[in-house]
Formats: sequence, C-alpha cells, structure tokens
Amino acid sequence: MTGVNEIRSAFLDYFEKNDHTIVESGPLVPRNDPTLMFANAGMNQFKNVFTGLEKRDYQRAATAQKVVRAGGKHNDLDNVGYTARHHTFFEMLGNFSFGDYFKDRAIELAWNLITKEYGLPKDKLLVTVYSEDQQAFDLWKKIAGLPEDKIIKIPTSDNFWTMGDTGPCGPCSEIFFDHGEHIWGGPPGSPEEDGDRFIEIWNLVFMQYEQTADGRHDLPRPSIDTGMGIERIAAVLQGVHDNYDIDLFRALIAASENATGVEAEGAASNSHRVIADHLRSTSFLIADGVLPSNEGRGYVLRRIMRRGMRHAHLLGAREPLMWKLVPALIREMGRAYPELVRAEALITETLRLEETRFRKTLERGLGLLDSATTDLGEGGELDGETAFKLYDTYGFPLDLTQDALRARGITVDTDAFDAAMERQKAEARAAWSGSGEAAEETVWFALKDKLGATEFLGYETEKAEGVVTGLVADGAETQEISAGQSGFAILNQTPFYGESGGQVGDAGLMTASGVRVRVTDVQKKADGLFVHAVTVEEGKLTVGLALELAVDHSRRGAIRSNHSATHLVHEALREVLGTHVAQKGSLVSPERLRFDFSHPKPMSDQELAVVEGYANEIVLQNAPVETRLMAVDDAIESGAMALFGEKYGEEVRVVTMGTALHGDKAGKAYSVELCGGTHVSRTGDIGLVTLVSESAVAAGVRRIEALTGAEARAYLDEQDKRVRELAALLKVGAGDVTARVAQLVEDRRRLEKELADAKKKLAMGGGGSGEAGNAVKDVGAFKLMARVVEGINPKDLKGLADDAKAQLGSGVVVLINVADDGKAAIVTGVTKDLTDKVSAVDLVKLGSEALGGRGGGGRPDMAQAGGPEGAKADAAIAAIEAYLSGL
Ligand code: ALA
Repeated sequence: MTGVNEIRSAFLDYFEKNDHTIVESGPLVPRNDPTLMFANAGMNQFKNVFTGLEKRDYQRAATAQKVVRAGGKHNDLDNVGYTARHHTFFEMLGNFSFGDYFKDRAIELAWNLITKEYGLPKDKLLVTVYSEDQQAFDLWKKIAGLPEDKIIKIPTSDNFWTMGDTGPCGPCSEIFFDHGEHIWGGPPGSPEEDGDRFIEIWNLVFMQYEQTADGRHDLPRPSIDTGMGIERIAAVLQGVHDNYDIDLFRALIAASENATGVEAEGAASNSHRVIADHLRSTSFLIADGVLPSNEGRGYVLRRIMRRGMRHAHLLGAREPLMWKLVPALIREMGRAYPELVRAEALITETLRLEETRFRKTLERGLGLLDSATTDLGEGGELDGETAFKLYDTYGFPLDLTQDALRARGITVDTDAFDAAMERQKAEARAAWSGSGEAAEETVWFALKDKLGATEFLGYETEKAEGVVTGLVADGAETQEISAGQSGFAILNQTPFYGESGGQVGDAGLMTASGVRVRVTDVQKKADGLFVHAVTVEEGKLTVGLALELAVDHSRRGAIRSNHSATHLVHEALREVLGTHVAQKGSLVSPERLRFDFSHPKPMSDQELAVVEGYANEIVLQNAPVETRLMAVDDAIESGAMALFGEKYGEEVRVVTMGTALHGDKAGKAYSVELCGGTHVSRTGDIGLVTLVSESAVAAGVRRIEALTGAEARAYLDEQDKRVRELAALLKVGAGDVTARVAQLVEDRRRLEKELADAKKKLAMGGGGSGEAGNAVKDVGAFKLMARVVEGINPKDLKGLADDAKAQLGSGVVVLINVADDGKAAIVTGVTKDLTDKVSAVDLVKLGSEALGGRGGGGRPDMAQAGGPEGAKADAAIAAIEAYLSGL
C-alpha cells in the first residue's frame, strides 16, 4: 500500500523529472488576493503569474498546496463528517504551465502519471471535457487511447473552472475513477452522477481567460492549472472507497479513539471524522497565523474548532481533547509541512485554551438546546431567538447549532436568527450615537457597524492585497478621494499596524494600476477599525478598489526592533532595580524607544550600564521570539507582565523572549509580556540596544530613551568618531584620551591661576617690584594712585585696591578695569586716616557717572560701581582728580 507521504513525493518527483520547479505550498491566508478568505486551489499563489503581472524564473511548477474550504466561495464545513469526501482542509497536488505547454502536454503528463507511475488500470478511468472543447476530446482519444464513450462532454459550469468571482479561469477536463459496480452511481452527466461510484480524481484546467469585474479577457498566453486532491487519489491507490479510510486519516482517527476510548463505529465514527478533519484545518490555520476571534478568518477558525469540540463532547470527552491529538498530526504531516512542527506549541495551546473556555458554556448551551427542542420532531424548526441566545451567550456558532440538530432532522429559523443579530447591532448603535462622542468619532462607529472590524494581517506579512470598503474626507464618508487630496481609508484587511500599545502606526504605500496612495499613519477606531491616513499621489482612490498594500519595510523593521528591545529593557530594569519597576508608558517609533517606569530616584551610570548589558545579553542569545494566545487570567497567573489599568480582551497575545541568565529566574524565560505589538523573529535581529538618556518625567517616574540596530550604530559611530578626533587633536591613543583631558583640565586650572596672579602684578606696577610707581601723584592734599587696567577679574579689584592702599600708607586709590566687551568696573579706596575728608562712595559716584553708569555703593573707605562706557576711563579719573584738587 502506498501512503499519503509517498504519493505526494511520487507526484512531485515525477514533475521534477519533467522539468517542473517544485514550489512550496502558498500560505492558507493568500497574500495576493483580497477576494479570497483562504487558499482554495493550488493556482492561487500563481494568480499574477497567469495574468502576466508577475514574472518568475520558471515556466513550469508543481506543488502540494494546503487548501481550506470553509467560509468563502467554496464552503464544505456543513458536510464534513457525514460524507466520504468532504474536508475543511485538504491537500491539492498540482502542476502548472505559465504559457509553456498547453492541453496536449498536460493531458500526456497526467495520463502517464496515473497509469504508469501510479499504475491505475486504464479501464477504470474516464474523463470529461467541456462540451465546446472538441480539441480536448480529440487529444484524449489520441494520447490516452480512450474510447469515445469514456470521454464525456459536459455543457455545464462543472467543466468551466473559476477561482472565484474574479481571477484566471478556463474550460477544464476531469479524470474520474470508477470504484466499481458494487457502489451505486453513474458516470458524470448521467442521472445517477451524484452517486459515489465515479469519483473525480484530477481536474485539468486549460487556463485561457481572466474574469474581471467588467468581463472575460484572454490571458497573455494559454496556461495550465491542475488539481488533484491527495486524499482521493490515496483512497484509490489504497483500494478504499472512503477518504477517511486512507492511512493518514486512520492514524488520526486511531489517536482520537485512543484519547476518548470510543471506537469509530456508527454515530461515533462521524464524530471521529469531524475531529480528525477539524484537527487538520485548525492546526494548519493556526500555523499560518490565524487565531480564533469573533471576526473574519478568526471566526471561521473558531467555528471549526467549536464544531470539533462538540463532537469531542459527543464522544464523552470531559476534558479538552483536540490539543492531545496534535502530536499524531505532526507525525503524519510534519515532514511535508515543517510549519506544523515550528508552530506546535502555539497550536497546542490555542486548541487547549479554546476548548477549556468553550467547555464552560458548551454543556449549559446544549442543555438549553435540548429543552428548546424537546417538543420538536423530524422536520421541526428551532426558533431564531434561541439560536441567537446560544450564539450570543453560550458561544455557539450558528453552524454548530445546526450540526447539533442535524441528526434529529431539525433545522434553524435562520431569518429570525439574522433579525435577532440585527436588533443587537441596532441597540449598540443607539448606545454609541447617544454617548455624546464627537461627530468625527461617530463616523468611525457608523463605519464599524457597517463594515465590521478590519482583519489585521500584519503579524504575518507586510504585503497583502486589500479592498477599499470605506473612505472618509473632511469628517464625512465619501466614495472617492482624488489625486492631491488626503483623507482616511478603511479596507477589508490590512498588513498596516494601527497605533496601539505605544507602538506607532505603520506607513507605506497602496497601489493599483494608475493609482498610488501614500499611507502616513494608521489609527485604530471604534474597537477594531483600522483607519489609514492617506494622501492620494496619483489616480483616484475609490470604494471597491483592490490595492496592493505594502508596509514600509525598513521602517517597520526598526519599529519591531525597538518594540522587542522595550521588552528587554523593561525586564533588565526589573532585574537591576527591583520588581517595583512598573511600566508607566512607552513610545515605540522607528527612530527610538521611550520607556517610562516607576522608580523613586535617578539611576546611576553604573545601573544604566548593567541594564544595557543585560538587555544586550539577550540580544546575543539570538533567541526566537515566541507569541502565544492565552486567556488573560492564565497569562497573568503565569507571570506575564501586564499593564495595570489596560483594557485587554478575554484572550491576549503573550510575547516571550530569551532565557534568563542570572538571579532567581536563571534558566527560565526572560521576558514574558502581554503585547499586541509587532516583534522581531529572533532577538538577534535587534542588533544592539543602546541607552541614550535617563531623566525624570514626574514624581517617582523615570524615563529611559534607547536606540537599537542601525540607529544605535549610527549613534555609537558618532561617539567613536568624536573620540578619534579628540585623540588626533590631543596626539594620544584613543585609550589615553581621558587621562590626557584630565591632565589638560588640571593644567588649565593652574595656568589660569598663574595668569590671574601675573595680571594682578602687572596691573599694580608692571614690573613686579611691588611699587605703585609712577601711577601715584599728588592731587590737592591727597596722594592718588589711579590706574586703568584690563583683564582683571572684577571680583579681584577690591583686593587689589586694598593692596594699593597698604602701599600708599595714606591716600586715595582708583582702579578701573575695562572688560573685553568695553564695560568698566570701578573701585575707589580711601585710607582710614582720610575718610573724614573724602568718601570713597562720593568718588565712585563721580567715576561711575563719567563711565555712563549710575552711582554705586560701598563704605567711606571702599566703594565700587560700574559703567557701560569703558572708553571714558581716563575722563572718570580726571573727574575724580578735579574733585580731589578742589577739596
Ligand atoms: N484549480 C483547479 C481546481 O481547484 C485545478 O480544481
């Protein structure tokens, strides 16, 4: 028997031998198509290659693609568990030609694979072609040698494949396998075609057109897209009729049997199938970044999970079950899809959390359902009010309620359910419109009500497509924003981060053919609406337009680094200063990070250095940054740091990084925080953390600013350059700069003192003899020493005047210092024996007036003043002389 893993390898090897490039599966959340909820075919990731928009360096490719058909155009959720071939998740094997080979080679390749490599008997095979495609009919006859009655012409859309309402499309030809007479059913096109005997195993699409909103256009070159569900071909090759009997599903069902102790028989078999199928879709969705929520993709995931959980409950499981089956899934599929292995912890915890939470209401909800339907028999209908109550209060998605009633043949009044839902929305609307919010805020509530929350893709990707669902300009909704104008745009989904948790909003570009729109900021409004501040640079932005959305990558990279570094600095602060350190605010921008925290006093240089060192130790660990979704209480109980007073949802993202190296936490996770921000994937991506300042913000609150990565390097480069310039100037090695500067400072202090002393000496006599010399003359009855000096510190003047008085013994001293700026300071001194004849205060007044000043003050023996006009120093002395001679 050939296992699923071998069948997949054989397919890929075969096409590789035939010059195809093996390409990894695209993600389940398509990045290049805003119209798709989940990848629904192998060709999704090549959509733009078919239309010629994108070029690859190969023209032939083969893939094993992950597909989810739940929600969106192809939705199989309701049937899963009750049929042999419906899945919410399956793998599609496909080969592709992008304008290379066409019908003939595609048919030949397919025919050879299934008849030669896989060895299927030719007489068990038949094919269909689109009725207008005679060419395909002839090729099957020629290449496969099939008789005409085994080439069936189908006139319906069954043989015209489209991805969705728009996208590449074309006529197709399907290969069917006949499971044998013992199973009821007829060939395609016959009245019994819905039976299970003839099963489609491979669809070859002859891609020729692109369907757009305004019609169908030819593709640049005819191409090929094929899809073969691996579960179906495995069933054929393993000689079973039912997909759930192939090796892969048997292993998963065995794990489920083991965990519940219930054998897969009768009704229990349906439940095991549901669990096995839903385990696959939930695990793959989580691995691709979808987490359960009440909106969009997250809600589809939640519906699938809860549907699976009800079946676990039906099997009697009284403890969360599905998370226990993850290892079995990884054993079966982890080699082919290593993302499962990488995300194992996240998958396990997300499942366990959802199951634990849902269990709390599941039983009570089922009780309500029972009592509301006791009187209903087959064909009965559950009222919409109860279904809505189950939805709103007990967390029962509508399809879970429908599934629960299915076995009893009871349906749900979905119109009444919808009406109840609408009534609840109207009540919410009344609440916010009466809440007195500013008019501009009301716009956002109205849009949120109409459009629902925006789906955020930015944890996983920086590039995606999105459709404009709403526009606002000048405070009101509008249908378009034209070139040169600014406004706000809402899209159905976005990779742009909306400012929150201290992290600034993303910036970047939105483009479509002929349209370029700059995004300068993104804010979150009305609980989940991402509002993009935009300026239209080219073309026109209109509601309904699909755009390529590209976050400014290097800006976001810098933001990621700064955000992750904020967590590291936070933890390092707690380590160094103590656990009283609590976050009081933060700002994470592309340029820097700012972190405010409680601490009663300034940090020492030593403390700052240790904090920086600890943060960088974790950077050097290059540890993976892990994000998990947890119940908020569990997260806080497990020690994750949360912001006091912050509003968290019931479930939170918990970001963990690094391993603690010292203290009580050594060996345990270093930083664990509740955080909705975007982070680096490994701590090494931060590059470097450099603290640049520590200051006070308010009483008991300190602020640290830090840089990371390129900004930190630029800062340190600048510092380094300064040191090197200094070393060159000082003519020493960089290591000796400090000692040299200390010495220079000391030298300077000494020289300044020496210089001041020398100036004083010079001022008082020029020659250092200590004699007042020829500056002394007799004026009237007095000996007068008057000097105009420069460069003397004004506060030294009085001391000099005292010295001069001592030299004179008896007499009058006048000293005027003229500073560089031309202003003068004047000191007058009178020896004690003369103060009854003349007052220094009078003299200084005279002098000061001559200098353009106004008086001064002091005592009879010593006074001082100033004046703006130093050039008049001689006139000041002359005025004093005149006065003295008149006494
Ligand atoms: N794209 C085609 C399909 O999904 C092959 O069936």
